[in-house]
Amino acid sequence: MSEVYPVPAETAKNALIDNDKYNEWYERSVKDPDGFWGEHGKRIDWIKPFTKVKNVSYSGDVSIKWFEDGTLNVSANCLDRHLAKRRDQTAIIWEGDDPNESAHITYGDLHERVCRLANAMTDLGVKKGDRVTIYLPMIPEAAVAMLACARVGAVHSIVFGGFSPDALAGRIQDCDSSLLITADEGLRGGRKVPLKANVDKALETCWSCKSVIVVKRTGGDIHMVTGRDHWYHDLVAKAAPTHTPVEMSAEDPLFLLYTSGSTGKPKGVVHTTGGYLVYASMTHQYVFDYHEGDIYWCTADVGWVTGHSYIVYGPLANGAITLMFEGIPNYPTVSRFWDVVDKHKVNIFYTAPTAIRSLMREGEEPVKKTSRASLRLLGSVGEPINPEAWTWYHRVVGDGRCPIVDTWWQTETGGILITPLPGATALKPGSATRPFFGVKPVMVDAEGKTLEGAVEGNLCLAEPGWPGQMRTLWGDHERFKQSYFATYQGMYFTGDGARRDEDGYYWITGRVDDVINVSGHRMGTAEVESALVAHPKVAEAAVVGYPHDIKGQGIYAYVTLVAGEEPSEDLRKELVNWVRKEIGPIASPDLIQWSPGLPKTRSGKIMRRILRKIAENDFGSLGDTSTLADPGVVDDLIDSRMNRG
Ligand code: WTA
Repeated sequence: MSEVYPVPAETAKNALIDNDKYNEWYERSVKDPDGFWGEHGKRIDWIKPFTKVKNVSYSGDVSIKWFEDGTLNVSANCLDRHLAKRRDQTAIIWEGDDPNESAHITYGDLHERVCRLANAMTDLGVKKGDRVTIYLPMIPEAAVAMLACARVGAVHSIVFGGFSPDALAGRIQDCDSSLLITADEGLRGGRKVPLKANVDKALETCWSCKSVIVVKRTGGDIHMVTGRDHWYHDLVAKAAPTHTPVEMSAEDPLFLLYTSGSTGKPKGVVHTTGGYLVYASMTHQYVFDYHEGDIYWCTADVGWVTGHSYIVYGPLANGAITLMFEGIPNYPTVSRFWDVVDKHKVNIFYTAPTAIRSLMREGEEPVKKTSRASLRLLGSVGEPINPEAWTWYHRVVGDGRCPIVDTWWQTETGGILITPLPGATALKPGSATRPFFGVKPVMVDAEGKTLEGAVEGNLCLAEPGWPGQMRTLWGDHERFKQSYFATYQGMYFTGDGARRDEDGYYWITGRVDDVINVSGHRMGTAEVESALVAHPKVAEAAVVGYPHDIKGQGIYAYVTLVAGEEPSEDLRKELVNWVRKEIGPIASPDLIQWSPGLPKTRSGKIMRRILRKIAENDFGSLGDTSTLADPGVVDDLIDSRMNRG
C-alpha cells in the first residue's frame, strides 16, 4: 500500500475543479463527447464557429477530426484577443542563462514582435502551408517565431538545439522546409552552442531551404551567406508592426514535431490548429489550476512537445504569465531553479524527474537556503517519477505544502492525458493517477485482450478521445496507422506499459517498445544503432536501455566490430563521438560492450529481450534461449558484462 496525500485544505479552497466536478465532467466527456467538447471548444476564439465537433475513427484508414468546419488563427488566440485587457500585462518572463539577465515581455510587445516577423516572413515568400524549421535556443524569439508561423499559416517544425547538423538536415529534408530560423549561437550553462555553424553544415544537403533568418544572441563570429542569410533584427526593423492573421481551418496543420519511434527514422508528428489549441489551453488551466496573475514556469525546452504546449500555446492562449528559462539547473549553482523561483515569485513549477534526481544528489541545503514561499503547485513530466524522487520534491522543494501533478502524455497526444487535478485528486507518489476529460485508458495483454480491474498491461486509449491528438505522420499516413493503430484493433497504442490499481489509478511503468527515455528525452534504439553501424569499423550494433540513477534510463550499446578491428578505449571514445556527431549529445551511449556476436534467432532476428536483461545485470531470468542460433553467444556476453565490474 502506498501512502496517500489528500488534497490540502489550502488547495481545495480556491481550486477550479474538486472531486465531484471531476467525476461529473469526466462522465460527460466520455458519454457525450459532442456536448462536452462542443462547450469547451468555445473557450478559444473562432473566426467562423464550428458546427461539427467530433469526427473520429480509430479503425480502417484512421481519421481524426475535431471542430472541422470552424476557422481560427492560433496567434490571434494567443495575442490579439488578450490585448484589450492585457496589453500591458507580462506574457513572457525571460530568464537568461546568466542570472543577471532577464526581461519581461508584455502581451502588447509580443504582439508587435510577432506581427513584424510575420510580415518579414511573408516578404521572404512564406505562405500558408509552407514549412518553417526553427532551430533556436530558449530566447523569446523562439516563441515569436512559433507564433509568427501560426499567424501566416506556416507549419513550424522545431528542432532541439542539441541535435547535430545531420539530424537537423534530416528533419529539414523530410518536410521540405523553405525557411529556417536560427541564432548565431546558443548559451547554456555558460557554454556556447554553435547553432549557425551547425545550420551551415546541415544546409549543404538541403535544397528546399532558400532563406535563413539569424537572431543575434551572443554576437559570436559566424558566416552569413549573401542572398540566403538575413539578420533577424534587420528584417523586423523594416517590417510593419501590424499584421492580419490568416484564417485557418481547424484541421490545417499547426506544427510538426519529429520524435523517435521503435524503428527507422524519426517520425514527423502532425498537430492541427483547432483541437490542439482547445486541448493545450484547457489542460494548462485545469491541470495547473491556473488562476489570473499566477506566475507559471515550465522548465522544458521549446524543442520538445512540453515546450510547445506548456510554455507557449497553452499558457498564452490562457493569457497567462509564462516563464522561459535559457539555462540549466546547475548553473551557476545547483540552487539556480530555486533562485529563479524566488526572483520571479513563481507559483507553479513544472519540471522533469531527471532534474529532480540530479538536484536531490546535491542534498537539501541548496534548496533550503532559498525561500520558495511563492510556490503553490509542482509538476512532473517526461518519464516515470520514482517515489523517492517524488517525496523529496514534495517534502524538500514544496516544503510539504504543494501538491505534485505527475502528468503523463506524449508528443503524439499534444497535451496531458493522465494526471491529478490539484483540487480533485488525492496523490500517490509515483502514480500519474486518473485520466483527464475525454481520455479513456484501456489495459490490454499481449494478445490484445482487454483487462479489467486492478491489473498490469499495455496502455491503450479508446474512443471517444480528446481533440489534441496527433492526426497523422508527415507524409506517411500508412506508418501512422501501423505504428499506433495496428497493434490493437480500434485503439491507439501508446507504447507504454502501466498498472491500474484498486482505486483506478494508473502507474506508468515505462516503454514496452524499442524506445528508451534518457533524461526525459525520447530516443529510438534503432536510430542509435544505425548511427553506430554507419561507422566503418562497426559490423553490427544493438542498443537497449538500462536503469540509470539520474537519467532514468541510460543507453547501452552492444557493438560487433568488422573482422580485423580490435576493441580499444580510443575506439570506444571514437564511437561515442561518432554518435554525438550523427544524432547529438543526447544520444551518446553510456556504455559500450564489445560483443563478438549478438544473440539471434535462427531467422536472424536479434533477441533484444536477452540483451536488455544482460544490460540490467539480471542474468537469472534470461528466459528461453533455446531458439537462438548460437546459445553460446549469451554466455560470452554475460562474461564480458561481469568483467566490466
Ligand atoms: C514517458 C513527453 C511516466 C512515457 C511529454 C511516454 C512518462 C513518453 C510521463 C513520451 C509520466 C512522459 N510518467 N512516463 N508522467 N510523461 N512519460 O513524446 O514513456 O517526449 O510514452 O513526450 O515519455 O515522451 P515524449
